[in-house]
Amino acid sequence: MKFFIDTANLAQIKEAQDLGVLDGVTTNPSLMAKEGIKGNDAIYKHYVDICNICDGDVSAEVISTDYEGIIKEGEFLASLHPRIVVKVPMIKDGVKAISYFSKKGIKTNCTLVFSVGQALLAAKAGASYVSPFIGRLDDVSTDGLQLIEDIRLIYDNYGYETEILAASVRHPMHIIECAKLGADVATCPLNAITALLNHPLTDIGLAKFLEDHKKVNA
Ligand code: E4P
Repeated sequence: MKFFIDTANLAQIKEAQDLGVLDGVTTNPSLMAKEGIKGNDAIYKHYVDICNICDGDVSAEVISTDYEGIIKEGEFLASLHPRIVVKVPMIKDGVKAISYFSKKGIKTNCTLVFSVGQALLAAKAGASYVSPFIGRLDDVSTDGLQLIEDIRLIYDNYGYETEILAASVRHPMHIIECAKLGADVATCPLNAITALLNHPLTDIGLAKFLEDHKKVNA
């Protein structure tokens, strides 16, 4: 399973890249705003800065919601860097735009997906990635992981090549369950990735190894 980091924070992206486990980055307008990135020029520069840190795909989300606007904005975003993936919302004009981008060879990430029907449409339109938001579903007492399982089943039934990018990941168990269910990618906050490192028996075991070594090598 690929690990993407879900942030626009350059220091966190660099930390994940340096760990050697990073396959890509996802951003959204809220994450860009959180970093204080405002104005088109600054936003576009920030996407390029992210691409210069991470070797993998970088999702850049359109703000437009009409077909012509999404096409214009998406083509511009895609021109910024070869690894930019145009992130398009799951709306009617978005699906139409994903189909257009797919025919033009521009990679897309269909975002704000909350149902299997939406995921099926995204795949039929030729999205490179589909982003089911599992944490936001859990927040409204709906099983986000069940959505991953259902999409995996349907995509495998028909051999759709759209990659399932589990989004809105909140904690390490989300990552582990997504891996068990066959999600292609999980996009995660840095703390969910680094939490995978932790086990008390590792800490106890390492302390004992070092202590035993010291006893005979002092
Ligand atoms: C990523 O593509 C999504 O925009 C993101 O994972 C949403 O996460 P949130 O529900 O924590 O805002």
